[in-house]
Amino acid sequence: MEGNLVVTTSRKATPELVACAQQWAERLQAAYVPRAGHSLRELASLAGARGVLVVAEGDNVVYHEPTEGVEYFFHPNLARLRIHNIKTGRGDPMVTAMQLGAGDRVLDCTLGRGTDAIIASWAVGESGRVVGVEVVPLLAQLTIHGLRTYPEPSAEVRAAMRRVCALQADHNDFLQRQADNSFDIVYFDPIFDRPVDTAATMRPLRHLAAPGAVTRQALAQALRVAARRVVIKQRRDSPLWRQLPPDAVIAGHNSRIEYGLFNAD
Ligand SMILES: C[S@@+](CC[C@H](N)C(=O)[O-])C[C@H]1O[C@@H](n2cnc3c(N)ncnc32)[C@H](O)[C@@H]1O
Repeated sequence: MEGNLVVTTSRKATPELVACAQQWAERLQAAYVPRAGHSLRELASLAGARGVLVVAEGDNVVYHEPTEGVEYFFHPNLARLRIHNIKTGRGDPMVTAMQLGAGDRVLDCTLGRGTDAIIASWAVGESGRVVGVEVVPLLAQLTIHGLRTYPEPSAEVRAAMRRVCALQADHNDFLQRQADNSFDIVYFDPIFDRPVDTAATMRPLRHLAAPGAVTRQALAQALRVAARRVVIKQRRDSPLWRQLPPDAVIAGHNSRIEYGLFNAD
């Protein structure tokens, strides 16, 4: 997909902004093209690209696919609300599934926009550690940047975001490089075959994400790397449970979601 992407600036481009856009182009191994007053549709068409990443003032970086009407940018989504739910006793099914506590080490193998990783980071606190890996370079780089720079108003959510260690990697390779028991929890939230979340905010992520279920090999590696448990998020009655039967399944807030728990011992 990234071969089909060019990087530009907003219409008012300062030399600093141009330099920043050039850095993004390098990071994504994409071409930088001057905006030169063009609309994004014109620019994509002139460059023969499907997508345009626009770098604007204030660390504002947005990916557009003008012909598809896709617009994607980093934001913490429901992180603040979910943390509020935990603090007010309503809990969070992912945190329950992971049995997270202070000091835990979590590997999120499907980082995406990083919302789950932010919640995990908040739950494990300063003494814990959350590492997230994302295979799609555009998503990985936007999430790495967003977790570092997003001006989240809540200080504790912001601190949790900044503590996440986000990396661009394929979890199949990454897991193989990790030592036995080097995380307490290894987590997967793969793209579902059929979406349960029709929210407009989820569609662009789905459009850009790498498809594919968790493989038997990835689960075996995850069970080696996890000291306590592997957690896989799925649709309810997922066919994956027949191929890779979990030790237990717990339901999400949303009855269409389940978490499969695989004990590491
Ligand atoms: C449903 S999204 C995860 C959303 C995430 N839990 C969140 O809170 O934002 C799944 C993500 O996993 C990524 N992915 C798929 N296969 C992967 C792999 N082999 N290694 C790393 N990331 C992968 C997809 O590109 C996508 O961004």
